[in-house]
Amino acid sequence: MTLTNAVLIAVAVVAILGAAGAFAVAYRRSQTAERPDPLAGVSPETRAADRSAIAVAIPPRVEPEPQVEVEAEPEPEPEQVEEEEADAVVEILETQRIVEVSPEEGGVSRRQFFNRAITATFGTFLAAQGLYYLAFFWPKLTGGFGADIDAGPVSDLQSQVFTPAGGVLPLFIPEARAYLVPAPDQLSAQFEGQSVSTDGLMALYMRCVHLGCRVPWCAPSQGFECPCHGSRYNAIGEYFGGPAPRNLDRFVVENQGGRLIIRTGSIIETPRAPGLSVQYPQGPSCISAVAATPEA
Ligand code: FES
Repeated sequence: MTLTNAVLIAVAVVAILGAAGAFAVAYRRSQTAERPDPLAGVSPETRAADRSAIAVAIPPRVEPEPQVEVEAEPEPEPEQVEEEEADAVVEILETQRIVEVSPEEGGVSRRQFFNRAITATFGTFLAAQGLYYLAFFWPKLTGGFGADIDAGPVSDLQSQVFTPAGGVLPLFIPEARAYLVPAPDQLSAQFEGQSVSTDGLMALYMRCVHLGCRVPWCAPSQGFECPCHGSRYNAIGEYFGGPAPRNLDRFVVENQGGRLIIRTGSIIETPRAPGLSVQYPQGPSCISAVAATPEA
């Protein structure tokens, strides 16, 4: 199980626990709220009439009961009466005695428990979400795009970026998402001091700088031509035409022990070249050819 799967499962479990807690609280509240109102549905006039009726109600006449002579019980002794009253007071006091406890002794009430459980559940859920997004966007420092990519021996790569006829043939490095192209002997001013070439090689980022489409190589014109909106670049990614605002982006490259290292964590942006270092186009355009192809 990968770390991503483990995090997703943890997030799902936390979400289920949170939903269960919220349902329990909602159920308790609904039980409390469902006590019927005895005056529900009675109009205000009827209630006022009932109150006035109660205010003027005349109690029914009570016929006096016939006097019956009862033999009077003997008066209890004063001491006996005092003892009975004292017992009654003690009994009442014992019944009404309220034990006061401090919050520490009383512990956590049910309401407090549910509130804290809900807060802890959603806090855990948010923390898990934050960790997941942090892991997703964290730059890969050990391999993959964003790290230093070993493209291979420099001598091998130098021979692969040319066709047998002497033309340019960019070598695509998938891990770096870059095209390796031959660098001219004399770089134009916007690349000075940028470490964008070494041993006659440059690494161009494959994304078009207009809206991010992948830019394919066009062998006939010897340039990069974007099929999305028609931006064009020469063989070293210098801007030629279209809506792109600058040259193709590129990476810092280094020769480390005879191997070419592409530092994909460092994307270098450069403005449109005032003049092209490499001629373009050298033949028909690929996107023009596509546009000219009649629809089937
Ligand atoms: S994305 Fe390449 S020209 Fe628009």
